[in-house]
Amino acid sequence: MVELALPANSKMVAGITHKAPAGAKRVRNFKIYRWNPDDGKNPQLDNFEIDLDACGPMVLDALIKIKNEIDPSLTFRRSCREGICGSCAMNIDGGNTLACLKPIEECGGDAIKITPLPHMPVLKDLIPDLSHAYAQLRSIEPWMQSDTPAPPDGERLQSKQERAKLDGMWECILCFCCSTACPSYWWNGDRYLGPAVLLAAYRWIADSRDEATGARLDALEDPFKLYRCHTIMNCTETCPKGLNPAKAIAEIKHLMLERQG
Ligand code: SF4
Ligand code: SF4
Ligand code: FES
Repeated sequence: MVELALPANSKMVAGITHKAPAGAKRVRNFKIYRWNPDDGKNPQLDNFEIDLDACGPMVLDALIKIKNEIDPSLTFRRSCREGICGSCAMNIDGGNTLACLKPIEECGGDAIKITPLPHMPVLKDLIPDLSHAYAQLRSIEPWMQSDTPAPPDGERLQSKQERAKLDGMWECILCFCCSTACPSYWWNGDRYLGPAVLLAAYRWIADSRDEATGARLDALEDPFKLYRCHTIMNCTETCPKGLNPAKAIAEIKHLMLERQG
């Protein structure tokens, strides 16, 4: 697994240890990044000793237990608890993933370290500020564009083969685990779109019903937006949905070459 850097504002100081209840037999340590923009203090790693006999199997279960029973100020995003909404993305045990899909027993080491997605501004504790990433997503206009009116009596149709081209892309839940694992995005994220947004761009380029392919490729023809991808593959390695954004980026580059000649 790729060991990833901590978030941008992370000059860490020692944190608090919350001891497990007396008599707990199967104790695991969770070292969790804490930062509150309102208290003026540096970030710290708090240690929570959790009795796994009184906790669900996933890392998100431990976070919810901590929030409900130990420290209600612990702040993180979650919604679906089944890998659909993408909101519980964070760095767990050195890799970006979804807390709801990560079994505690798959985490190595004595303590399980949990930090926000790397190299993003942090709003509080485990919550990154995704405003810039979402602005980048809006910039690729992720909706179908067509001058041809839809048939008056039904949907716009695709062949099975055309529909199959979207497999491996429509499943993306926009968790941004991939973009925040990408060194090119860490250093050039102001202008490089990153793997999550480029996968979304290719999802529409590859859609047979969309008629804006030329304009979409024109918009990506830029030394930074697309070509900062150096095929390092962290994105594909880390995707918790098993998708391959690096392949989508390669497909876009291939189409660019075809256009040139
Ligand atoms: S490609 Fe995978 S890691 Fe990237 S945003 Fe989509 S689901 Fe998340
Ligand atoms: S393949 Fe490209 S997008 Fe994926 S991690 Fe590497 S540089 Fe980033
Ligand atoms: S809570 Fe929705 S993906 Fe984890």
